[in-house]
Amino acid sequence: MIVGVLKESFPGERRVALVPAALPSLAKAGVDVVVQQGAGSLAGYPDDQYAAKGAQMAQDRKDVFAADVLLSVRAAGANPEAGVADLERLRPGQVVIGMADPLGEPGAARPVADTGVTLFALELMPRITRAQSMDVLSAMATVAGYRAVLLGAIALPKMFPMLMTAAGTLSPARVFIIGAGVAGLQAIATARRLGAVVSAYDVRSAVKEQVQSLGAKFVEFELDAAGAEDQGGYARQMDEEFYRKQREMMARVLAETDLVVTTAAVPGKKAPTLLTKEMVAGMPVGSVVVDLAAERGGNCELTQPGKTVTEGNVTILGPTNLPAEVPYHASQMYAKNITTFLLHLLSDGQLNLDLTDEITRDTLVARDGKVVHPRVCELLGLQPPSTGGADPEETSP
Ligand code: NAI
Repeated sequence: MIVGVLKESFPGERRVALVPAALPSLAKAGVDVVVQQGAGSLAGYPDDQYAAKGAQMAQDRKDVFAADVLLSVRAAGANPEAGVADLERLRPGQVVIGMADPLGEPGAARPVADTGVTLFALELMPRITRAQSMDVLSAMATVAGYRAVLLGAIALPKMFPMLMTAAGTLSPARVFIIGAGVAGLQAIATARRLGAVVSAYDVRSAVKEQVQSLGAKFVEFELDAAGAEDQGGYARQMDEEFYRKQREMMARVLAETDLVVTTAAVPGKKAPTLLTKEMVAGMPVGSVVVDLAAERGGNCELTQPGKTVTEGNVTILGPTNLPAEVPYHASQMYAKNITTFLLHLLSDGQLNLDLTDEITRDTLVARDGKVVHPRVCELLGLQPPSTGGADPEETSP
């Protein structure tokens, strides 16, 4: 079996799906790897390192498409514009594995499905123990949480640590992290390492201990957050009244905060608005907001995705692809995730799709010319198939 690694074509994407260190485990499973020349160079993995681990290097992108399985960081909806150029190179039965943004850009799954490929979207990985080493969202959120604090630290006109110097005492920066999931916990740890006084808030009170164990204060609001967590460990969407009360209570904390990092996400939904224009106006002069939910509409009303805006005396950053700014380690983690997933799909060196397996079934988006994932079908107005992958009937075009 041949696995192909493409050079990413999404603008600004510097990650690569497979790093050289991942090749030996694939070779052991009987998998040959072909890598498009330059695929890893922006991430710090030059061609010769792949060749040294036994990869065949393809000068021409189209040669990679001869592979049985294509690995990429951004496929389908995660690369909706530049990715179109690759559609005509895909062939029926070929397997495509990558992040595909199936819930954010479900429409992009259709033309991919039309080519007859089998598409797996790694964002749909269930949050279960067995799948932890394949969980790309957690791996990338770790990088994003770290990077968000560094960006905030640079934008802030203050230093983070408390310093007692001959030139006087500097008070520490006050950092507030909203949403203490994977990105949030990493943001807390990073801000603490830099010496800030950190507090954090999450609708899931279960994270209180984790926040405290990182040396941060857990801020509690008197809100009824019962039902805030779904079975998959993700946040549920709450009603507008809940978010209104939350904003009211949060405004008091914000008035004493230098850097806010917002990470509140509800999978497949627009991000909840947690910071209004008025709340931002109440923040101290020079303070900074880093909105990690920028791509999903933002947790702050003023956020503009991919941009830095200044409103009054507050700077608001809306980064949309932070993992690409730390491409070496982001690729290393991604490669581990995707390799583990690929090996999970293989038996005796061949692909063997067992749709009774939760990991395989939940990540499968398209097969045999159809979109087959129930949630993606729902978003597209299609009748989901009754069995994983077989013959869904369309209810509307
Ligand atoms: P996660 O699901 O682990 O954590 C999100 C946390 O937010 C959960 O703990 C949840 O309970 C909490 N939350 C939800 N609604 C809330 C509310 N109203 N108030 C307070 N807390 C609330 O998600 P993860 O993996 O940490 O990702 C966080 C965000 O970072 C996501 O929006 C994700 O899309 C984003 N992200 C952004 C990147 C970028 O480059 N901008 C890169 C990677 C992730």
